[in-house]
Amino acid sequence: MKISVVGVGYVGLVAAACLAEGGNNVICVDKDGNKIEGLKKGVIPIYEPGLEELVERNTEAGRLEFTTDIAYGVQNSGVTFIGVGTPSSADGSADISAVKAVSEAIAKYMTGRHVIVTKSTVPVGTHKVVSDIIKANTNHPFDYVSNPEFLKEGSAVQDFLKPDRVIIGTTKTEIFELMTNIYAPFMRKSSRMIFVDPASAEMAKYAANAMLATRITFMNELSGLCEQFGADIEKVRIGIGSDSRIGKEFLFAGLGYGGSCFPKDVKALAYMGDEQGIEMTIAKSVQAANYRQQDRFAERIIEYCKENGLTQIAAWGLAFKAKTDDIRESPAVRCLHKIIEAGIKVKAFDPEAMENASRELGKAVEMCEDAYQTLEGSDVMAVLTDWQEFRSPDFDTIREKLSRPVIFDGRNLYSPDFVAGCGIEYHSIGR
Ligand code: UDX
Repeated sequence: MKISVVGVGYVGLVAAACLAEGGNNVICVDKDGNKIEGLKKGVIPIYEPGLEELVERNTEAGRLEFTTDIAYGVQNSGVTFIGVGTPSSADGSADISAVKAVSEAIAKYMTGRHVIVTKSTVPVGTHKVVSDIIKANTNHPFDYVSNPEFLKEGSAVQDFLKPDRVIIGTTKTEIFELMTNIYAPFMRKSSRMIFVDPASAEMAKYAANAMLATRITFMNELSGLCEQFGADIEKVRIGIGSDSRIGKEFLFAGLGYGGSCFPKDVKALAYMGDEQGIEMTIAKSVQAANYRQQDRFAERIIEYCKENGLTQIAAWGLAFKAKTDDIRESPAVRCLHKIIEAGIKVKAFDPEAMENASRELGKAVEMCEDAYQTLEGSDVMAVLTDWQEFRSPDFDTIREKLSRPVIFDGRNLYSPDFVAGCGIEYHSIGR
């Protein structure tokens, strides 16, 4: 099949490379000339395990090409996926101006029947907006599909190649069949293809992200109560997770959720509710509680430093989660902003996100070459991202280098008994 994908961000680029891997000819279009030039030379603009090899292999095989020319992309394909960004507007709504502009361009350059597939997360009802734009700009027949993407950063390629499910929002059976063919290489079971109407597909994406954000936030709130009662949130997690109705996944208490999706989507759901006169009270509470969780952790560190006259912390982790260089809505970055504002110096290390974090935090944070270097001259240490390489550190070195051997662990990476046994004071979440 000949496919074009507009927007080479996390969603678009991963989808394009994987669709090419599935045997399709894919043209990637992006208006950012630097990104496109880079991609032609094999330079991947994001850090995503496995993506570089996939892009290289499929480019060499002639199945993947890159251009800034949307006309070329549309004219040389029968199906166009839209994967451009839908960031939060100031009022909390999702900004779909890029989706609208791309839809108009697709319509203008269509040369015959075309299928337009939205992969970007778009507010419920966008299928009508996009369909109207296309109708207004072409006389060619077209079909619209809402096909939300559920990939996770850090495992995006694997998520796309082995999806839990693929939701196809369309009103026509033959279009569902066409999409089923496109996804066939990635389907271990055909029952993973879900055929719904476009509005339900759009809603399912928000519902999934808001549900997951709610689970995490509920555990985070409970963690505060566990600390008060001397209960252990990890044991509570295992206790409730073994109920098959609840399940074990996505119940880890920590610093709060971040990233490019959960915060934006929970906010957008609340906004959609307000617009429709149906208050999304849970989504609103989740948002507030999530920021409270991050602030509570930063305040614990600040208070401890003030009480003990300490002036510098070693920060392990900046990315919003492990295996990514993404710092968008990173709880680590929000905590560090607060800590810096309180006049405490920070030395930080992150395996992938230091470049991005430097831009955001500026000179206030001294970036280090490795995790242990952050300990030089620091009083206490804080774990802010759940990187694998932070999971079994050399606690003796930590104890010797810190002026005060204390770890504030926002990710519950260590066993409290073990750390205490190493002679280190340990503060974690909900334990
Ligand atoms: C998420 C969704 O999982 C994905 O389906 C959607 O398409 C985009 O948004 P992503 O943002 O890449 O993906 O990350 P995810 O792994 O879901 O984690 C989101 C945040 O929740 C991270 O900050 C993570 O640290 C936090 N989290 C996750 C917890 O605090 N506890 C958990 O148990 C799980």
